[in-house]
Amino acid sequence: MSQAFFASCPRGLESALAEELHEIAARPGLARLAPIQVHREMPGGVTFSGEMAAAYAVNLHSRIASRVLMRVANRGYRREDDIYDLVRAQRWDHWFTPDETLRVDVTSHRSPLQSLNFIALRIKDGVCDAMRERSGERPSVDTVNPDVRIYAHLTEHDCTLYLDTSGDPLFKRGWRLEKGEAPLKENLAAGILRLAGWVPGQTERPFYDPMCGSGTFLVEAAQVALGLAPGANRSFGFERLKGADNKTWNALKAAARDDEEAARKRVASEPLELAGSDISTDMLSMSQANWERAGLPGEVRLKQVDARFAQPPFAAPGLMLMNPPYGERIAVRGERRRPMDEAPVDEIDDEAANQFASAFATTLKQHFAGWQAWVFTGDLTLPRRLRLKESRRTPLYNGNIECRLFRFDMVRGGNRNAPAQPSA
Ligand SMILES: C[S@@+](CC[C@H](N)C(=O)[O-])C[C@H]1O[C@@H](n2cnc3c(N)ncnc32)[C@H](O)[C@@H]1O
Repeated sequence: MSQAFFASCPRGLESALAEELHEIAARPGLARLAPIQVHREMPGGVTFSGEMAAAYAVNLHSRIASRVLMRVANRGYRREDDIYDLVRAQRWDHWFTPDETLRVDVTSHRSPLQSLNFIALRIKDGVCDAMRERSGERPSVDTVNPDVRIYAHLTEHDCTLYLDTSGDPLFKRGWRLEKGEAPLKENLAAGILRLAGWVPGQTERPFYDPMCGSGTFLVEAAQVALGLAPGANRSFGFERLKGADNKTWNALKAAARDDEEAARKRVASEPLELAGSDISTDMLSMSQANWERAGLPGEVRLKQVDARFAQPPFAAPGLMLMNPPYGERIAVRGERRRPMDEAPVDEIDDEAANQFASAFATTLKQHFAGWQAWVFTGDLTLPRRLRLKESRRTPLYNGNIECRLFRFDMVRGGNRNAPAQPSA
């Protein structure tokens, strides 16, 4: 039976996710095993449809999605009781038994109803009452490690109910133990890589992250270059739902394992040109540990370098991508001319950021001619600090923090003075 799905993603990555879903749908073999119809970009995600196996494939292969939700019902509402009635009318017993534990999450956009917690409670009651009516028993709630997650999204007039097929959010790939300072979520990092042009089939150039932290960009970039499935080493919520199509799921996983085997052989003859550096040796150890846990074949070049004095790690120019520290929690490290006690903290941080930016811009101009440098930051004034003209800026969100992905095209003696093009 064909189902409607919503793949959610960080805000700003909807087009990148839609592009990725089209690529997943076109993967060899998927048209037969798990056909996917990609529909519409919506704020915060993309809709698609297919059999349940379509959700298996997207969970397994999407790097950018946060979750894959299956649409259960949609109806207009005015009061909490209307939502309860909608929930109560659904055949939840088709999907899980009262032995499974439950969690309900509610999001809203312009809903006139006041308390999302109360609505979550009413939805939980509706599910439990519906289950008890059919089987005499009701499921219990587990907010930490539930077997089944139900989502409701309320707009001004409409309520949509979803059953989650992902379980843990998809940015949890299963390889990260080492977190570092302010690591990027893996799916946000993967979306940024795609926006920077690091997509399957276009990864032949060198890649360098001069502020690599725990190595999120490096691991994601390597997995993209090797064509590895991001979900190959984790479990998913759909595996706990009734009627799972194990034959198709096993076939999808077997195909992903074959891809991995082929990638290992390829890397033995064509090593990846990926490098990272950081001012902190602790961060470099984390990058190395995460690289190894991700089971990546081959080596990543890691070196302790202050980004102000970075040198290209490879002979040919390539793609530089970085996420400098920004905000109250962490700051760029490097020397500060004024002693800390002579100026207020904000001013010191601002001055330090300007000093870093000026030195880093000089390094880019002197040593990275021919490179494309992409910087993901919450500092919207970065191009001014760098005194470089960006050739593209893309608005994105890191959680609730408004950010930009800036692109700088480095040419000898400066960077191209092209007008900035907002890409979204
Ligand atoms: C926001 S974190 C990067 C997080 C990384 N993208 C990840 O996902 O783990 C910024 C990194 O910049 C590093 N850093 C700070 N000042 C630096 C400098 N002057 N040169 C090089 N790295 C620096 C910090 O050690 C930190 O690991």
